[in-house]
Amino acid sequence: MQTFQFKSNLSPVDAGRREALLEAPGFGRVFTDHIATIQYSEECGWHNAKIGPREPFSLDPATLVFHYAQEIYEGMKAYRMPDGGGALFRPDANARRFRNSAERLAMPALPDNLFIESVRELVRVDRAWIPSTAGSALYLRPFMIATEVVLGVKPSSEYLYCVVATPVGPYFKGGSVTLWISENFSRAAPGGTGEAKCGGNYAASLAAQAEAIQQGCEQVVFLDAIERRWVEELGGMNVFFVFDDGSLQTPPLTGTILPGITRASLITLACDMGLTVREEPYGIDQWEADAKSGRLLEAFACGTAAVVTPIGKVKGRRHGFTVGNGGMGPVTARLKSVLLGIQNGCAPDHHGWLDRLF
Ligand code: PLP
Ligand code: COI
Repeated sequence: MQTFQFKSNLSPVDAGRREALLEAPGFGRVFTDHIATIQYSEECGWHNAKIGPREPFSLDPATLVFHYAQEIYEGMKAYRMPDGGGALFRPDANARRFRNSAERLAMPALPDNLFIESVRELVRVDRAWIPSTAGSALYLRPFMIATEVVLGVKPSSEYLYCVVATPVGPYFKGGSVTLWISENFSRAAPGGTGEAKCGGNYAASLAAQAEAIQQGCEQVVFLDAIERRWVEELGGMNVFFVFDDGSLQTPPLTGTILPGITRASLITLACDMGLTVREEPYGIDQWEADAKSGRLLEAFACGTAAVVTPIGKVKGRRHGFTVGNGGMGPVTARLKSVLLGIQNGCAPDHHGWLDRLF
């Protein structure tokens, strides 16, 4: 196991300013004082693990990542515990997904223990940046870029892995979100990179997301690329449906959607509560019909950033409907509170999901 060399940031944000920033951090605009980095080369493998001051990189304009987008990332959070300590939520699951994304993008696998240690070390060093206000956390963004300087279309022979940290509040400001059904754009197709967490997927989603904003909606909902019928996921979240018989349904992991860690956790928690959860395709026309008939009572988006966010309205060129009463339904509220209870260290962690750091 590599040990991380530590170089302290000699001009950190002063404590008064940090506390002011932590009061209302927004999402992803405020950063901590340090960064974790590890280099990879074909000759040396993973080496030079460091925690150092957060500062800009200098990269040659012909660096591979700028041209062919060989890049992957993760999103996870560190939570403030009631006794003042700090914990990660299921970092092993993020490490595994990062390894799977690397494989799909022809990048080297970062060993899970090195991934987890890099995040733990950074959070321990920047522990003062974990917010304690309700709904806030320290969002962690591990990522890997191709750093070989060459314009050939090939896997890079060198990589840089980094972790940056940003204190965040809720991703959405309002109570529930309105979705725009994208009919012109696909996010992913069979055999593509839909189940990898790579920057390219998000670049490809931006035109659809811009269309959603133009239509007065917060998020885009993507349908499958072949039949343009089956609901897949939102630009940056998975989706669940709640029916009048108390059961839940979420689209299956068929390779075109991201296997969300929040999604997997909610399936487990819903089963613990005795609810039935189906991982089965759900058609957009059926969604509209069920919302209108009252068979569908609730729908929600979920993810690390979004946590659990009710879906209030759905719009599209051929569709327009409200889900339930347009607000947060009781099943959504219960799942959100059980998940947050575990993440914030206020409820028993029966599944051993919290990784207590200090
Ligand atoms: N789907 C997409 C496209 C995402 O970007 C995310 C967020 O990371 C998710 C789903 C939810 O994944 P997770 O719960 O692991 O954050
Ligand atoms: C996350 O939830 O971690 C994501 O990457 C999604 C993005 C909307 C911030």
